[in-house]
Amino acid sequence: MSAHRIASIPGDGIGREVTPAVYEVLEAVGGRHGLEFAYTEFDWSCERYLREGAMMPEDGVDRLRGFDAVFLGAVGAPGVPDHISLWGLLIPIRRAFRQYVNLRPIRVFEGIDSPLRAARAGEIDFVVVRENVEGEYSEIGGRLNRGFPEEMAVQEAVFTRAGVTRVLDYAFALAGRRGGHLTSATKSNGIVHTLPFWDELVRERAESHPGVRWDQEHIDALCAKLVLDPARFDVIVGSNLFGDILSDLGAAVAGSIGIAPSANLNPEREHPSMFEPVHGSAPDIAGRGIANPMGAIWSAALMLDHLGHPEASAEVTGAMAAVLAETDTRTADLGGSATTAEFTGELVRRLGR
Ligand code: NAI
Ligand code: MG
Repeated sequence: MSAHRIASIPGDGIGREVTPAVYEVLEAVGGRHGLEFAYTEFDWSCERYLREGAMMPEDGVDRLRGFDAVFLGAVGAPGVPDHISLWGLLIPIRRAFRQYVNLRPIRVFEGIDSPLRAARAGEIDFVVVRENVEGEYSEIGGRLNRGFPEEMAVQEAVFTRAGVTRVLDYAFALAGRRGGHLTSATKSNGIVHTLPFWDELVRERAESHPGVRWDQEHIDALCAKLVLDPARFDVIVGSNLFGDILSDLGAAVAGSIGIAPSANLNPEREHPSMFEPVHGSAPDIAGRGIANPMGAIWSAALMLDHLGHPEASAEVTGAMAAVLAETDTRTADLGGSATTAEFTGELVRRLGR
């Protein structure tokens, strides 16, 4: 079988420390399943921005086009404004490749203490589906009267029938394959144009997915319920901004942002999808070899699933769960003392069995 061609963008800070862990894990699980991976590494990063004035070359997106998938570590560096790394790399890739679904699974593993006292492993297992290419993250708007007392900024949120419908269809179908329950994040009581439209489209799409029970919650109440009773959720779908906030909240509920994975999916597979941990470059711990590689490794498991290898994917998440449940090996963010390499080594040993 020919190798999967992966474009790898380790990025900055701990992105460069967790990406090698992904290579190791994929080699181990690939060995058992006859899978091969051919990586092409790109040095696109804030470091490159400081050196050459751009996060990636002008034809960067085109260079990624022919790959089967993109893996990204994390980008961000002190001294480079965050909107540069976001709009100079991540957002152009998500948009050019129509990666309109951002998928973020959240689980409390056995052996990890959730900050929520009552949370028990196994009970909390939900997925946030974030609309990833439109909504509140729009370029439409502007600033006027800079520096004057009447200075102002306007930013328009963009919700299209096509854009909302396709992400809702993805979320309903995912709920159908999982627990059969979908929650829509809204705020149609306060935001009176876009979110009532969103709610209408949810009702409309629900008719095409009769096997899925669904409800909707206003984003503020939903945040409270995610903390008070996270076990009730299965699939949560939200706009770009709501999905962004919910998935970081979910990651915290699961015990550490270092665990949380994400997939930027082009469900039609017309373009490469991109897989990345939720966390950033963590400059406060970068360079010490102590970053938790689980978010990156779980993202690689999502990539295996997307590439058509669900068994290999399940083996990787299973091995992560086993290391946590059966050993004390865990990184400092989870209260342990293992290094990135030690945790990865323990995981790879399990995959080798
Ligand atoms: P961050 O996720 O980098 O760090 C937040 C906190 O969590 C820090 O205390 C960090 O040490 C800890 N942490 C994060 N990942 C960890 C891991 N794998 N293991 C152990 N501890 C971990 O978020 P922050 O500090 O807000 O941003 C730092 C930089 O990263 C900024 O430049 C930001 O723009 C960028 N960033 C990039 C993202 C991306 O590439 N997709 C996403 C979020 C932030
Ligand atoms: Mg976020």
